[in-house]
Amino acid sequence: MATYPTKRLRRLRYNPVIRDMVRETQLSKDDLIYPLFVVPGSGIKKEVRSMPNVYQMSIDVLVEECKEVEQMGIPAVILFGIPEHKDELGSEAYDPNGIIQKAVRAIKKEVKNLLVITDVCMCEYTSHGHCGILNGEKILNDETVELLAKEALTHAQAGADIVAPSDMMDGRVAAIRKILDEHGFIEVPILSYAVKYASGFYGPFRDAAESAPAFGDRRSHQMDVANALEALREAESDIEEGADIIMVKPAGPYLDIIWRVKEKFGMPTAAYQVSGEYAMIKAAAKLGWIDEERVMMESLTAIKRAGADMILTYFAKDVAKILDKQI
Ligand code: PBG
Repeated sequence: MATYPTKRLRRLRYNPVIRDMVRETQLSKDDLIYPLFVVPGSGIKKEVRSMPNVYQMSIDVLVEECKEVEQMGIPAVILFGIPEHKDELGSEAYDPNGIIQKAVRAIKKEVKNLLVITDVCMCEYTSHGHCGILNGEKILNDETVELLAKEALTHAQAGADIVAPSDMMDGRVAAIRKILDEHGFIEVPILSYAVKYASGFYGPFRDAAESAPAFGDRRSHQMDVANALEALREAESDIEEGADIIMVKPAGPYLDIIWRVKEKFGMPTAAYQVSGEYAMIKAAAKLGWIDEERVMMESLTAIKRAGADMILTYFAKDVAKILDKQI
């Protein structure tokens, strides 16, 4: 084997054409999933305090946004709903006329080729902001799973292309698969948030989705940030229960987990560049401390390099514009 001075790794870096030819990872618009927040009302487009250029939108505004997203060549959106009323049982989550169900119907009527993914969880809908039904301060697993299954079914009935449970209750993927199949939705895939950590990086999302827990935290169901082998067990059980795509979340600080999950299972793998990852890049760029475009592209390329086949990112539109310029 050649060694220096015969071997010179810089030979393939001297000019941009060569660099393009040997590049191993290429971001593409097909990788992108764009998260959107829906609120009741009309004519509403309200910027989220901690997430510049991310908005809460009423359904009419959302439909226009989805048209634009489709035209830009972004293949998919994921929807989060902020309901009219929150209650102990999060009943708007599984109401056929809930905010998400209405939003999905409206988008599907007007935007034909955009994949609509719905986030299936209770935390935006419960008055206490927890991801399930409570007994005292404890989240009841099996009772919550029943409601999540109902929620996913109403999303599919409204026309959702993919349902994405993000609650981290045990057994929810199997329950969702069962109810979908029983009602004829055998073709609707489940994108499971299989490996979701109890992360501080979700802070800004809770402004956007108005879903901060009234007390306590999410550590009784989301994963301990220190664990990697447990991530493999989580992914394995969701795959066994019927998940079609598995997700790791957050993304940037968990590249090792994306890599391990992809290596071990070889499943279609999604990664969520979450609100805090986005907000940190935006804030540092605003202060003039980093080059926003460069860091954005670098962070997403790294997530793809680690093994992600698709990336949920608030930067989706910005990335699409940059990729268009490169062609
Ligand atoms: C739960 C959910 C959360 C996010 C996506 N789905 C919040 C949480 O678990 O507290 C966070 C996404 C982000 O931070 O961008 N419905």
